Amino acid sequence: MAMIIAIDGPAASGKGTLGRRLAAHFGLPHLDTGLLYRAVAHHLISAGEALDDVAAATAAARALDLQRLDDAALRGRAMGEAASIVAAMPSVREALVALQRAFAGQPGGAVLDGRDIGTVICPGADVKLFVTASAEERARRRWRELVARGEPADQAAILEDIRRRDQRDAERPTAPLAVASDAHRLDTTHLDADGAFAAALGIISSVM
Ligand code: C5P
Repeated sequence: MAMIIAIDGPAASGKGTLGRRLAAHFGLPHLDTGLLYRAVAHHLISAGEALDDVAAATAAARALDLQRLDDAALRGRAMGEAASIVAAMPSVREALVALQRAFAGQPGGAVLDGRDIGTVICPGADVKLFVTASAEERARRRWRELVARGEPADQAAILEDIRRRDQRDAERPTAPLAVASDAHRLDTTHLDADGAFAAALGIISSVM
């Protein structure tokens, strides 16, 4: 039976890690959709285009190839910020819808995480999780992640970044960060990755 798991949540809420673990557990493919917006921003920056160039961003989104996303170049802090600028453009989002829905439509199903998976991309998903954690806890996690990657990081600056990015993502008119009415909220402020995974499995087994 095909199962689509939609995971949404603010920056650094742990939805990516949770998505990967659920996908491995159920033997499903996983798409971190934040990488798509990061890739569009990365393309603009590499090509020397302005981040607010809607035509260039839309062209980059249309040309995006899922098989060629270079994770390492996209994960940095500056790219998250840049991604949220292009992600507010309706034509960029529209260019990425078909690709995400095709991924979700694979025969066995899929796990997708992002900001609008449960609300826009996969409104009929079998399970919708909305993963949150306090902004301070998310900043601590992002800081640990960046330090582990060897990126110099300042926790206060990261907290500010996260707050600004959440606000931009939640206030944009097109596909804002929002909790789907049928989503299950999962607050991971006091949970580690194992705890979040166990809680998510509990939710999934209660609805499937
Ligand atoms: O999840 P991640 O931090 O990689 O996402 C980077 C940015 O991409 C987000 O801040 C958001 O603006 C955008 N995004 C989005 N919709 C998604 C996934 C990410 O708008 N489904």
